[in-house]
Amino acid sequence: MTRKLVSVSDMSRQWWDKLYSQCCDIIARPEVYSDSCRGKLFASMFYEPSTRTNFSFQAAAQRLGAGVFGFSDPLGTSASKGETLADTIRMTASYSDTIVIRSPQEGAATAAALYSEVPVINAGDGGHHHPTQTLTDLATIAQKRGKIEHLRIGICGDLKHGRTVHSLVDAMRMFEGISFCLISPKELRMPEYILEKMGTQGQQFDESESLADRIPELDILYMTRVQRERFHDAAEYRRLKDVYILTKKMLEGAKPDMLVMHPLPRYGEITTDVDTDPRAAYFEQARYGMFIRMSLLLEFLHQPRLAPAPVSAGQTAKECSNPACITQSDFYLPKLVSELGADRCGYCDKKFPKMTI
Ligand code: NCD
Repeated sequence: MTRKLVSVSDMSRQWWDKLYSQCCDIIARPEVYSDSCRGKLFASMFYEPSTRTNFSFQAAAQRLGAGVFGFSDPLGTSASKGETLADTIRMTASYSDTIVIRSPQEGAATAAALYSEVPVINAGDGGHHHPTQTLTDLATIAQKRGKIEHLRIGICGDLKHGRTVHSLVDAMRMFEGISFCLISPKELRMPEYILEKMGTQGQQFDESESLADRIPELDILYMTRVQRERFHDAAEYRRLKDVYILTKKMLEGAKPDMLVMHPLPRYGEITTDVDTDPRAAYFEQARYGMFIRMSLLLEFLHQPRLAPAPVSAGQTAKECSNPACITQSDFYLPKLVSELGADRCGYCDKKFPKMTI
């Protein structure tokens, strides 16, 4: 049984099928589930701003009859006094039945899961992963198209920093006949560790810089926001922020049943005249997010409390050079090996710098 959802690697096709079929039943008969988590408590730890993910988790918990506690501003917690993530997690786990964590630091949820007696859900770790947005995306595609297979999916925008699309492409390995068109300027290309993994998994993809040229061939167009908060250079952000703007006019050349998806929030990359086009699926997508999160919480809130495996102190912080990685602030974290190879950080998946002697 899966006890955590830190990345899409924690999911199997069988697990997804069960989660989605339960989600369909929740959509059809919500009243049956309204007391299914009565007496359970879910902890919501948001170290970074959120509207949809935070609200949909809270709504999901309350629609199952569960209670919620937590924060959406870490300034109100002991993190602001310098408490380590490990200590905050140990304590929060002792009060709750499942923890949901969002952090600007990559690998924060992986680190949290090492210290938690209860299931941990990653609600976004920096520019790394966002697996519950992927559940939302899969549920939307399944609801709107009937099945998830044989689709040409265009992913457009900031593929470098957009954590939702990192998780989405990874999840699509579970489904047949999926091919991707990765549309971005060179500066915002999909990170090499994701492209490498797609290659290893035999996923079909090509890259393009033109949205207009590629729209006609797509079954799904997944737009993303240029992630201002992940840029080190404000001028570079300003230069790239309006690089793709989807308008109603551009949809004239698209397939009549193409879906336009977006994790939201948007920041000008889809004009509001697209909202009334029947192909616009992004607001429904946000609603399906609540139902699939209900299904996920139903899985996790009833799991037994289990002591985490002992962890030994390590030296990861000295090896990883990614300034956004959790190992840069939490030096006590043990060394973890990335599933992508021993030359990568087990928290953020970035390659360790070459040692110079
Ligand atoms: C996304 C996120 O936070 O990564 N939003 C979401 O969770 N629905 C996308 C974004 O912020 O652009």
